[in-house]
Amino acid sequence: MNHNLITFDQEQGIFHLKNNEISYIMKLEDEGVLAHIYFGKKVNQYHDHKNYPRRDRGFSGNVPGQEERAYSKDTLPQEFSSHGSMDYRIPASIIQRQNGANLTDLRYHSYDISAGKPVLAGLPSAYVVEENEASTLTITLKDRFEEIYLDLFYTIYNERNVIARSVKVRNLTNQTLSIEKIASMQLDLTNSGKYQDVLSLPGAHVQERQVNREKLSAGIKRFESRRGATSHHMNSFIALMEEDANEFNGEVIGVHLVYSGNHSFELEVDQINQLRLVVGINEYNFSWELKTQQEFQTPEVLLAYSDSGLNKMSDTFHHLLRERVARGAHQYAERPILVNNWEATYFDFTNEKIEAIVDEAADLGIEMFVLDDGWFGHRNNDDSSLGDWFEFEGKLAKGLKAVADYVHAKKLKFGLWFEPEMISIDSKLYEEHPDYLMQVPGRTPSGSRDQHLLDMGRKEVRENIQKQMEAILNTIEIDYIKWDMNRSMSDTYSVALESHQQGETAHRYILGVYELMENLTEKYPKILWEGCSGGGGRFDAGFLYYMPQSWASDNTDAIERLKIQYGTSIAYPTSAITAHVSAVPNHQTGRVTSLKTRGDVAMSGVLGYELDLTMLSEAEKDEITQQIKVYQDLRPLVQYGNFIRLISPFEGNTTAWLFVAEDQSEALLFMARTLASAQPVFNEVRLKGLAEDFLYEDQATGEIYSGSELNQIGVYFPDFYGDFQTKLIHFKKRGN
Ligand code: GLA
Repeated sequence: MNHNLITFDQEQGIFHLKNNEISYIMKLEDEGVLAHIYFGKKVNQYHDHKNYPRRDRGFSGNVPGQEERAYSKDTLPQEFSSHGSMDYRIPASIIQRQNGANLTDLRYHSYDISAGKPVLAGLPSAYVVEENEASTLTITLKDRFEEIYLDLFYTIYNERNVIARSVKVRNLTNQTLSIEKIASMQLDLTNSGKYQDVLSLPGAHVQERQVNREKLSAGIKRFESRRGATSHHMNSFIALMEEDANEFNGEVIGVHLVYSGNHSFELEVDQINQLRLVVGINEYNFSWELKTQQEFQTPEVLLAYSDSGLNKMSDTFHHLLRERVARGAHQYAERPILVNNWEATYFDFTNEKIEAIVDEAADLGIEMFVLDDGWFGHRNNDDSSLGDWFEFEGKLAKGLKAVADYVHAKKLKFGLWFEPEMISIDSKLYEEHPDYLMQVPGRTPSGSRDQHLLDMGRKEVRENIQKQMEAILNTIEIDYIKWDMNRSMSDTYSVALESHQQGETAHRYILGVYELMENLTEKYPKILWEGCSGGGGRFDAGFLYYMPQSWASDNTDAIERLKIQYGTSIAYPTSAITAHVSAVPNHQTGRVTSLKTRGDVAMSGVLGYELDLTMLSEAEKDEITQQIKVYQDLRPLVQYGNFIRLISPFEGNTTAWLFVAEDQSEALLFMARTLASAQPVFNEVRLKGLAEDFLYEDQATGEIYSGSELNQIGVYFPDFYGDFQTKLIHFKKRGN
């Protein structure tokens, strides 16, 4: 165990988590209040000089039990706050007792330091492979009067700029408690004005993870989802940034919630310009009954610190999510180039149509065929059959197995679409189990895409779906599954819960989905699983724990994808971001772009095709064959190299990003210009992260560049002609 990572100075009451890059410091203030001192670049030694400045402030009352008028929780930077005890800022916890009182007063109780990192039962989280790669500090707080305990977990890794945090509530009173709010973390930053900006990733269906940066000012700002899932509308990620921080410079703190349900990121600039950040399960429509002796574990938050801008923060998360959140046989595997029949056929397919697509796919060198929505129940459009996971014999006359066999005979892998959490009213499942549908008794539930949620918090519901899926998986050889979810939660109610427990429904739903995914991924470890929710509605760190890749967006337009993929890259690694070449005019925007542009953009993610291959011209077939060869060569670099953003599509007419191999032996530069001009400016881009003294050869032209000239001087964009132009340059170290 690496004892050096965490120290506790008993005399001064100081906890210091430290590795070669970062420090996290806390202090036991008077009366056992756990104060936050610092999170940021490594501090070699902290000698206890920066204590809470005492000052008597009007209307900021005193710490209960303390007569000192200059000591107030209302302004004290704390590690974890509660409602009550005169801290009027956003509380991290609200715990109600049977008498209705909902204030607590949390004080230090004890601590523990252990090797490695605890597993969070039933929840996704970052993990360790070796015990000695991380250490965990647990600080236990206790209510001043009652046996209510909060364990605050802090894990620090040896080699990562990351602190992983979560909280466990333990009820050792002899009464039942109701948790009205329990955050995964709080961060109180005293240095007023240091992190003036917040970056978030809001969006919409077919417009996910747009980059939004704004100034923080007095009052409360929330970034949240109330939709029961992560949502397209606000990703479960934010970054705090210094005012002048950018992609390469300045200090940045990235905050990832490892959770797939209702989340909130609350920021409050208080009366003296201090910043409080509270992150966790959204308290909206949430409560949790905690009986005596029971515990509640929150989801985990991952905090990354960067002293060199957003790119370094992203790099920290890319490595962490890829190496210590994603799991399974495909974690580091090269992901197959697939063709998906959704935009090719939608619901209108037969064995013959699919065989024709598969024939073409095999000729083109595509590696996997995915049969999307419409193969089950009696589903010919989106208003029926969800929940009926048996094959639609009326549609696939030769059967589903014949499809799989045909695909495999052509030496392709076979993938299949499921939407396991849903039920259609027009289904056998609904006929047999109408109560499985999540709804409030006596009220007609709100429809969305003519479908409803199953109450996944119920064991019998999960078991039913698992059994049905297993019947398919045990009879048909399936190499890949796309796990979809195509509506937001409403009518949030569970007939399995007591009236006072209804606030648990949404979280129990997510826990149920996690359990089902854990069961299935464990039972079928060879399958490559891809997350999806109407595109990228559940693209989050929690899902990555079960499924190493996710469909980034139902928007396949190459130009809109520039922003979607750029925004997604801020928080997620390329190996997780799937991207398809589709037909033109694009089905979502009507835009026409060249096959080259569509290919170049999709090749910047996990490449796939989603168009009717039987409609291609010979020239298009040749071009796709070529794209596939190029991508197969680039694949390890793109999927597992370091990704660096160079020019943002949110700021102008051009975009550039770069993939650099870990050993710097090769790099791939992507450049795009959106709109043409008759009198264009000279666009240029400087590369980053190449080895200064290596010589690199442009694989297309043979031109030789030194790493330093690419880093320092850079290259011009090509003299593009026309709208929507892109270019890839593959540099390889000479002599490789
Ligand atoms: C969602 C997915 C699409 C497709 C359809 C099928 O919208 O994101 O890729 O699978 O469902 O209904």
